[in-house]
Amino acid sequence: MVLSEEVSRFVRAAGPAHTDVQERMAAFAADHNFPNIGPESGAVLRLLARLTDASTVFEFGSGFGYSASWFLRGGADRVVLTEFDADELDQGRAFMTDAGLADRCVFEQGDAMETVERYDGPFDVVLIDHQKERYADAFHAVQDKLAPGGVVVADNVMRGPIDFDALLAYVDGDADALDAQNDQTRGIADYLDAVRGDDGVETTVLPVGSGLTVSTTVE
Ligand SMILES: C[S@@+](CC[C@H](N)C(=O)[O-])C[C@H]1O[C@@H](n2cnc3c(N)ncnc32)[C@H](O)[C@@H]1O
Repeated sequence: MVLSEEVSRFVRAAGPAHTDVQERMAAFAADHNFPNIGPESGAVLRLLARLTDASTVFEFGSGFGYSASWFLRGGADRVVLTEFDADELDQGRAFMTDAGLADRCVFEQGDAMETVERYDGPFDVVLIDHQKERYADAFHAVQDKLAPGGVVVADNVMRGPIDFDALLAYVDGDADALDAQNDQTRGIADYLDAVRGDDGVETTVLPVGSGLTVSTTVE
């Protein structure tokens, strides 16, 4: 296990509790074995929305709105939710309506990589949480659309459909560590290379939930 269960429990217990609708979202995710971002990382999304005084948040991969609900709790004026799966998005619309938040959501069904082309920004916060092998492309797609002080956050850089030990060896300098790895692990490695090698952002890793990178624009 990458992150100790006790640390996770502590962060969760000391962090914000779910709202009633988030509690229902979490139960729905458990019932459907759906990988939402979880409350520890959700609290970070809330923090980022609050710190950036976010007007617009753009998400790559929204599922049924759990991560978006945290941005909205952080005061984001508007969240653009993107999702391949029409049923998930409909479920998200229903949850957001119940929470009284639907009027601050834009629901975009289809490929997020195409949807983002229809938006000029500026984005105060971007969440990348869709296909791991397309994370770097998603970063490049929003790079010039970030607001001054804007933030890009990516989930699953330490846990998920990836091999953590191989990634650790890679960032430690073993260039061959990914040779036998799957596309998702390579995708995360490519993403780390993209953001760490970009002078326009400063990137840090937060070992909460499934592991987040947070990249902040450099003015
Ligand atoms: C990890 S889940 C997202 C969870 C969500 N951010 C949350 O925390 O509640 C990934 C979702 O992205 C969707 N997805 C994957 N690739 C996509 C793409 N290119 N465009 C739109 N949605 C995509 C999947 O259908 C899935 O629902």
